[in-house]
Formats: sequence, structure tokens, C-alpha cells
Amino acid sequence: MSERERDDHSGVETTGHEWDGIKELDNPLPRWWLIVWYACIAVAIVYWVLFPAWPTLTGYTPGILGQSDRVNVANDIKALDAQRGAEGVMLEKASLEQIEKTPNLQAFAMAEGQAIFGNNCAPCHGQGGAGGKGYANLRDDVWLWGGQLADIEQTLKYGIRSGHPLARVSMMPSFGRDGLLKPQEVNDLTEYVVSLSHRTASPGAVARAAPIFAAQCAACHGPDGKGNQAVGAPNLTDSDWLYGSDRRSIHDQIWAAKGGVMPAWIERLSPAQIKAVAVYVHVNSGGSGQATPALTSAATPTAAATDNTVSTTTAPAPAAQ
Ligand code: HEC
Ligand code: HEC
Repeated sequence: MSERERDDHSGVETTGHEWDGIKELDNPLPRWWLIVWYACIAVAIVYWVLFPAWPTLTGYTPGILGQSDRVNVANDIKALDAQRGAEGVMLEKASLEQIEKTPNLQAFAMAEGQAIFGNNCAPCHGQGGAGGKGYANLRDDVWLWGGQLADIEQTLKYGIRSGHPLARVSMMPSFGRDGLLKPQEVNDLTEYVVSLSHRTASPGAVARAAPIFAAQCAACHGPDGKGNQAVGAPNLTDSDWLYGSDRRSIHDQIWAAKGGVMPAWIERLSPAQIKAVAVYVHVNSGGSGQATPALTSAATPTAAATDNTVSTTTAPAPAAQ
């Protein structure tokens, strides 16, 4: 091998490559660059040893740490299932009151309940449970069939007019359609119901309807129209309406009662799931179970923020009960 040529100007050896008279100098690589380069090689070798790295004919080199994202995810899911299972078992064992009073159980029930509600109840009761015409509002503390935890659980298990032998069943007669009352009497009763909810109504009609109400309606709605949860008869004196507050809606209900149907969930949801969703509904309604229309801060902040406004702003208008 001949001696390498040196560049006259810089004194550095050339590589011997030359293009149109320009020669390439053979400067050494910068030291920092070399250090990084060797460090990368060292890290790569350590990585090959520890982690899955090289493909083989049948799979890959697993690395001595046995790390695998697939296995990690599977383990996480297993751990979550175990935790859920444990909490699910606790839900099943605890009473509804215990669940509501124990913070971690309540938190679990609320999360479970929200998911169950979204999948099963929201199509009828609305995403936040605010209801709609014919579908009970579950976000206020006004109840057709009772708002204690046990009442709600019972409603959920067996449903309302669901066909289940233990369902809540009372049925308002269709006074007009079935000829139980004359059309004029139904008109008068409409005025009477309007007057019950503290609105201006024709005094003559109200006077004519009073004895009919006492005879035909008081048995379920109470002599003063305040309703009766034992038979699911709504309070007719408040501003919450299941089917609408206007005369037309009231007349239609007296003429031909709707008899809303709520499915029984006992065969579709597990006992723990029913408890979770019962606690969810109870807490979100304000949770007292007393017939006070006020919403309390016990509702979850996110849902309450939207739904409080819905119930309070719609209260004087036709709001679902
Ligand atoms: C197919 C529609 C439908 C579905 C689905 C449904 N509901 Fe209902 N629900 C109703 C109707 C209609 C009523 C009111 C019935 C009446 O006239 O008394 C009602 C009433 C209720 C009541 C009683 C309210 C009161 O004031 O006493 C509760 C509690 C309730 N639903 C909870 C639920 C929950 C929780 C779910 C989901 C697991 C659910 N509902 C799913 C239609 C439905
Ligand atoms: C057998 C019990 C029963 C009798 C008797 C009865 N009701 Fe009802 N009423 C109910 C029930 C239950 C509901 C709610 C149910 C449904 O149809 O979904 C209701 C609903 C209503 C509503 C709708 C309330 C709302 O919030 O939208 C009006 C109005 C009403 N009744 C008026 C009357 C009048 C007037 C009479 C007498 C002529 C009468 N009811 C007799 C049980 C009864």
C-alpha cells in the first residue's frame, strides 16, 4: 500500500477520492458523535437481550424479561374483572342503604349504574333520565310509585304494567272512550284538573265536575287530587306532568288513559346490576324519596349541571312527572 496523499493546505490525509480536482479529506469523526454511536450500539445489544427483538422462522426472540404488551393487557383486564367481581359480590351482599352510605360501594354503584342506565333506560327515560312525555322524569324527587330505594328497586325488578305477575299494575279507566262518562263530563273534569294545579279554569265547569271527581277519580288521585303512590296515580296539583299540562293532554288522558308500560328487568339484569342502577336513580333524583320537588346537590355534578336546569326551567310547562 502506498502512502496516503496529504492535503497541502490543511495537512490532513485525503481518502484518495477526487471529483473534478476536489479531494475528500479524511478528518476523524467528531468525538461526541462517536460516543453517541457506540452508546446506541450498546443499548441496542442490551435491548435485544432483554426484550422481544429479532424475528425467527416461527416467532421472535422473546428476550429474558418476557415482556409482552398482549400479555400485559390480558393481565390488566383480568385484574379489573377480579376487582369488579369483588365489588359486584359486595353489591349483591350489601343492602341498598349500605351501598348508598359506603363511599367506595356508592362510587362503584354509580359508575355501574350509569353504564347500565345508558344502555337500557336512556332510550325511554332520556340520556340523563330527565324523561319525556309519557316517560317518567327520574331526575326530580317526584315519584309515581315511590322514591325510596326499595320502591325504586321494586319498580325496576318487576316493571309497571309489564305483564310480570309482580309488576305494578293499577290502570286508570278510559272514561270517555269506554262510555263511563259523557263527553261534557270529561270536558268539565278537564277544567277541574286545570283548577287543581292552581290555574284559572271555568268556574261553572269546575263546580259541575267536583262531585264527579269525588266519585270517579278520588279513589286513586285522592280527594284533593294529590295522588297516591300505592296505585301510581300522579299528583294532579303540582307542575309535574307525565302526559302534559295543557287542556288537550289532560282531556286525552281522561278520555283514554295511556297506561304507560315499563319493562321488568329481573330477567335481564343481575341482582347486583339492579341494585347499582336503583342507587344511581335514587342518588340522581336527590335521594330523599320524599315528595319534595327540589333537586339537591346529591346528584352527580356533571349530569346534575345539565339536568337541574332542564327540570327547573320546564317545571311550569308540561314536564314529565
Ligand atoms: C320501554 C320504555 C322504558 C324503559 C326501557 C325503561 N323505562 Fe322506566 N318507565 C317507563 C314508563 C313509561 C314509566 C312510567 C309508567 C307509569 O305510567 O307509571 C317508567 C317509570 C319508571 C320508574 C318509576 C318512576 C316513578 O315516578 O315512580 C322508574 C324508577 C324507572 N322507570 C326506572 C327505569 C330504569 C332504571 C330503567 C332501565 C333499567 C328503565 N326505567 C327503563 C318506561 C321505560
Ligand atoms: C284506578 C285508578 C285511577 C282512577 C280511578 C283515575 N286515575 Fe287518573 N291516573 C291514574 C294513573 C295510574 C295515572 C298515570 C298513568 C298512565 O295512564 O300511564 C293517571 C293519570 C292521570 C292524569 C295524567 C296526569 C299527568 O301527570 O299527566 C290525569 C289528568 C288523570 N289521571 C285524571 C284523572 C281523572 C280526572 C279521573 C277521574 C275521572 C281519574 N284520573 C281517575 C289512576 C287513576
